[in-house]
Amino acid sequence: MSKRQVVLIEGDGIGPEISAAVRDIVDAAEAPIEWVAADAGLGAIERTGHGCPQETIERIKAVGVALKGPTTTPVGGGHKSVNVTIRKALELFANVRPSRTLPGVKAPIAGVDLIIVRENIEDTYGGIEHMQSNDVAQCLRLITRPGSKRIARYAFEMAAAQQRKKVTCVHKANIMKITDGLFMEMFYEVAKEYPQIEASDIIVDNCCMQLVSKPGQFDVMVLPNLFGDIVSDLCAGLVGGLGVAPGGNIGDGRAVFEAVHGSAPDIAGKNMANPTAMLLSTIAMLRHMGFLAHADMIERAVIATLESGKRTRDLGGELGTREFAEAVCRQISQATAITGYTVAASAGSFTRAADAVTSVPAGRALKGFDFFVEHTGIPAMPAKVGPFDLKMVSNRGSKVFPGPTPDIVLVDVHRVRYEAAGQVSDGDVMAAVAELDKSFKWMHIEKLQDFCGKAGYSLAQGQ
Ligand code: NAI
Repeated sequence: MSKRQVVLIEGDGIGPEISAAVRDIVDAAEAPIEWVAADAGLGAIERTGHGCPQETIERIKAVGVALKGPTTTPVGGGHKSVNVTIRKALELFANVRPSRTLPGVKAPIAGVDLIIVRENIEDTYGGIEHMQSNDVAQCLRLITRPGSKRIARYAFEMAAAQQRKKVTCVHKANIMKITDGLFMEMFYEVAKEYPQIEASDIIVDNCCMQLVSKPGQFDVMVLPNLFGDIVSDLCAGLVGGLGVAPGGNIGDGRAVFEAVHGSAPDIAGKNMANPTAMLLSTIAMLRHMGFLAHADMIERAVIATLESGKRTRDLGGELGTREFAEAVCRQISQATAITGYTVAASAGSFTRAADAVTSVPAGRALKGFDFFVEHTGIPAMPAKVGPFDLKMVSNRGSKVFPGPTPDIVLVDVHRVRYEAAGQVSDGDVMAAVAELDKSFKWMHIEKLQDFCGKAGYSLAQGQ
């Protein structure tokens, strides 16, 4: 079998130790991998001045697959997260995190076997944040039609390829009716093309409660970025913690596999780190590359090792990183039978049907605008400006005008809604804003538009 290249970023902290363990195990299984070293993390900063040098990005682009060890991100300053840099530079839009109860690993609940598919680019992770006033900070949460469709498509394709039976969309569309409403709409639109797979949805808070009480009801789950981040860590906890939580970041023709955990500086260099999470990520990588037999062989060996009670310290065992890796290598050569565990369905990689990246709405109608005003106390806004009528003023989403005014704490930014009786133009909005600008300090405006007859804006609470 001819060898395929994989970029290996060892990372820092425990990264080099667990990477060495993984390499030994991949060699023991004779998987046809040629490692191509690349730099990222603290070492890269010292050597090149960049946490993630452009050369590393180019190498991953050229090779197509990478295995990444953890990299330290300084808090409150220093270099940008290497993970975020790689994810964005390579448009790795899907973060796939399987959670499965492993034999021999103490966990709070049994019978977990699910895969989280987290949207990896959008949501609140765009870093679009502003102080609107001294009292009010804003973070823009962007959910897009093509982004939502793409992640839903990926979840269903993956479910089909791995013979999974159900995909659940996790959301908060009862509150975020427009953003998560769009995410869910795209989910059900894509679901129609996969009639053999059950499609369901659940509100994220209920989902968390159900996960810790009846996890068996979940199979593949697809979530927007922030919920996916949080819920996947919850799922990691359900199966024994960070030491056994693998992950993969997938894009079109590119994939970077890595454990969920970080660089664990507290145990770095002490031969104490558990390499299992990076190893499980490597198994997913081998399946992604089509090396199914090697993936199965390594997975069986890891399970047999854990079943036999050989564990690292984080899992209550006594083995060091190296000793655990040696035990797995021995199991590979002995091919010990495992009980009570079936290796994952060997699906290999799969191709994704391309979706249109943008859509042009047949009808778009401008109705008015929301005007965000900085003002202490409720601002006295004109009842009419140009063709627009004052409809309401809200503070943190609660309607404060027209009355009755709720008994709430007011902050110094108000949303003022002006709507026209008929359709208006951008020029009408500009003229109205110019008029209001004479008397009010404002932060920004948002146009109120209908798309194909459907309101593209939310009502204030109490409206
Ligand atoms: P962490 O995951 O590094 O460590 C949390 C706790 O889990 C520590 O007590 C650690 O010893 C333990 N732990 C983690 N992985 C382990 C393993 N394989 N075996 C045994 N014990 C393990 O999280 P923390 O401390 O919040 O972050 C440390 C650094 O890692 C930070 O700079 C953070 O930004 C970075 N980080 C990097 C990630 C990546 O490169 N993918 C992901 C998460 C954090």
